[in-house]
Amino acid sequence: MFDDRERQERIAADRLAVETENLFAQARMEELHQHLTAAGGELGSRLMVLDESGKVQADTFLQLNGTRLTIPEVVGILATGKTADYGVHMLDEGTNGSRRFWQPYNEDAQWVSYCTAALSHGGKVIGVLVLSSPIQDMMQRLFDLQNQMVMYFLIAAAAAFLLAMFFSRIITKPIASLTRSIQRMGHGDLSVRVPVKGSGELRRLSETFNTMSEKLEMLDKSRNQFVSNASHELKTPLATMKILLESIIYQPEMEAEMRTEFLTDINKEIDRLNLIIGDLLTLVSMDSKTMRLNRSTFSLAQVVTDTAHRLEPVAEKNNQELKLSLNDRCEMYADNAKLTQVVYNLMENALKYTQEGGSVRVRLVRSGHDAVLTITDNGPGIPKEDQAHIFERFYRVDKARSRETGGTGLGLSIVHQMVLAHGGSVSVESEEGHGSTFTVELPIHQG
Ligand SMILES: Nc1ncnc2c1ncn2[C@@H]1O[C@H](COP(=O)(O)OP(=O)(O)OP(=O)(O)O)[C@@H](O)[C@H]1O
Ligand SMILES: [Mg+2]
Repeated sequence: MFDDRERQERIAADRLAVETENLFAQARMEELHQHLTAAGGELGSRLMVLDESGKVQADTFLQLNGTRLTIPEVVGILATGKTADYGVHMLDEGTNGSRRFWQPYNEDAQWVSYCTAALSHGGKVIGVLVLSSPIQDMMQRLFDLQNQMVMYFLIAAAAAFLLAMFFSRIITKPIASLTRSIQRMGHGDLSVRVPVKGSGELRRLSETFNTMSEKLEMLDKSRNQFVSNASHELKTPLATMKILLESIIYQPEMEAEMRTEFLTDINKEIDRLNLIIGDLLTLVSMDSKTMRLNRSTFSLAQVVTDTAHRLEPVAEKNNQELKLSLNDRCEMYADNAKLTQVVYNLMENALKYTQEGGSVRVRLVRSGHDAVLTITDNGPGIPKEDQAHIFERFYRVDKARSRETGGTGLGLSIVHQMVLAHGGSVSVESEEGHGSTFTVELPIHQG
């Protein structure tokens, strides 16, 4: 708007300067005045002509004749050789106005624009034409606009602030709930779960948190179970020992033969306690992530032969047949002691749970990069519902019978852990009344 107005005024001032410079040069003041008055009326502006010293020679308002006008637009032409200039002024503040849009609106101020053009004659500046127009309407609109903008800005800022608050609430709410849950967990409550809502990262975070707390809760439960099972297992032989010892203490006249029998029983219970504690320690050491395998190269077939040799008296005692079929020497790079225990535990179980006169077959074959060991018996078998649990700690199928045979239910869980530590797998196939087959697959790492 301003630029348009300025352009128009500059064109008008230039045109009038050309039209009047001759009249001024020839000092035809009467005609000059008439021309200016006509043009000023047409433009709705005040027109003045100043001489080269800046003194007003003609003024369509007839007020300033003879006075010197020192506005910068005039000085610019007379002193610095510009041919045209334009400026905006607030009248009350004298001549010191320029376009200062940010100036606060002053109701009383009078705004005018000055457009000047040089009057020249024979290549020399002989005066200045000044076209002065009221621009009150324009300034008024400008300031209105400015106020409106301030208002819009404030409204937009307030809206942005509220929106930011709203969204940050939405984003931080699940984080706050997660924080509370973690705090509760820190205080020992492992049953906490957070609601899984929304999508993206926060959803994944909530899901991960829930999975983690489920795992922790499970671990906590199984640890408690383990401790209570272990205590129970340790308590039973202790209770037996206490009864036997009390009998000896309170019956001093007990026959020597009976006393020896009691002491032998106590000795047996101590052996049993020792075995259980040894198994527990093995399991605990296998549990820790820092567990290391003490690898060496050896033949798994040799391990099976040696173990069978160790168990022969048991088989003989029960009149059981123990048959080995070893197709390969299966040279392994593994932990000899741990695999010996695996083979021993499985073969011992097979003999222990198979009736007198039964048979146990041990087969060892090589299949690709794996050694496959199968131990088959024709014993009582394991019910389907128990098969999933026999590798758990302290799990026994027939508790009464196991007690009789002296088992604690740790043997298979030790087997499981040790096979896993070697990167292998162990499984069972069994049908009640038709015997069981345990299969161990172990990778043959050659060092
Ligand atoms: N060959 C098998 N035939 C029938 N049942 C078996 C056989 N092997 C294991 N089981 C069942 O699985 C249970 C778990 O066996 P595991 O070797 O872990 O414990 P255990 O023999 O009772 O005690 P431990 O081996 O610690 O002295 C046994 O109590 C038994 O009921
Ligand atoms: Mg066992």
